[in-house]
Amino acid sequence: MLRCGLIEDAFLTLADLPTPRARNVPAVLARTLTREALDAALLDHHALLAKRRGRSYRVVVRVAGRQPFRREQVEAAFLRALAALLPHWVPARESAAAVEVWVHVAGGRTVVGLRVSSDELAQRRYKRAHLPASLKPTVARALVLWSGPCPSDVVLDPLAGAGTVLRERAEAGRATLIAGGDIDPAAVAAARTNAGRQAALALWDATRLPLRAASVDALITNPPYGRQHEAPGGIEALYRGLLREAARLLRPGGRCVVLTGEPAILARVAPAALRVRARHRLLMRGLAATAFIMERR
Ligand SMILES: C[S@@+](CC[C@H](N)C(=O)[O-])C[C@H]1O[C@@H](n2cnc3c(N)ncnc32)[C@H](O)[C@@H]1O
Repeated sequence: MLRCGLIEDAFLTLADLPTPRARNVPAVLARTLTREALDAALLDHHALLAKRRGRSYRVVVRVAGRQPFRREQVEAAFLRALAALLPHWVPARESAAAVEVWVHVAGGRTVVGLRVSSDELAQRRYKRAHLPASLKPTVARALVLWSGPCPSDVVLDPLAGAGTVLRERAEAGRATLIAGGDIDPAAVAAARTNAGRQAALALWDATRLPLRAASVDALITNPPYGRQHEAPGGIEALYRGLLREAARLLRPGGRCVVLTGEPAILARVAPAALRVRARHRLLMRGLAATAFIMERR
């Protein structure tokens, strides 16, 4: 699971319960932490992360929705509970702790877990150049997996931005060729930094691509939605030109994955040559988006 590229964090569950409606919720939540659950999770934690030595802990609390208590109160209650349950351990002074207990209060549900992932799972090391509308690597990996990657694939992202899709495709397995480009020279430079030698890159207009017809097996992309990026001729004209090119470039049976926040526009302009096989809805930083999985007829 830690290697699938689709998750940002992983936890061993210590407690999972409806958020109590008590008077002193932080103390009630902290009492759900038991010696048995903690010991069992610490054994698994050690087996998974044998190199993480030391006897220090830290508590991280995430609270979503309106609650009648503060995050800091939950953190203090859990620190007190851990001090009692692990008397020979110490709270970590900085962020580097041997173990991390995370408390997620998400509206009516609270989940307490021992974290078995590190920051690198969410923030890939390769991603050194950043652009405002760049995808999270985990989302880019999902798009890649929806394209059904094969080692013989010629893969194209014609609106590559910072190159996240291209790099995630390279990380997901071999391909004959991984290529992409963007109309913005700064984006092409960012993609070069992030995707490196793994992708062939070009400065181009995705509505008029200098590529041979029926030369691509999988086209994976996320065009601008009109929220963060303006398209000079309008989003609809851009989508129409992009999908016309997708239909021209894909071989029969070729796969096309497009992530957009404007699904109605995309559905309206999709040419008949692209059959929509599935739509997946995603929430990205609170904003809804739809991934269209299409196939060249
Ligand atoms: C949402 S961003 C792509 C983000 C990218 N997937 C990433 O993870 O960084 C959309 C990109 O489309 C590019 N773009 C807009 N119009 C274009 C066009 N006509 N041809 C090529 N690229 C275009 C923008 O410059 C921008 O980098």
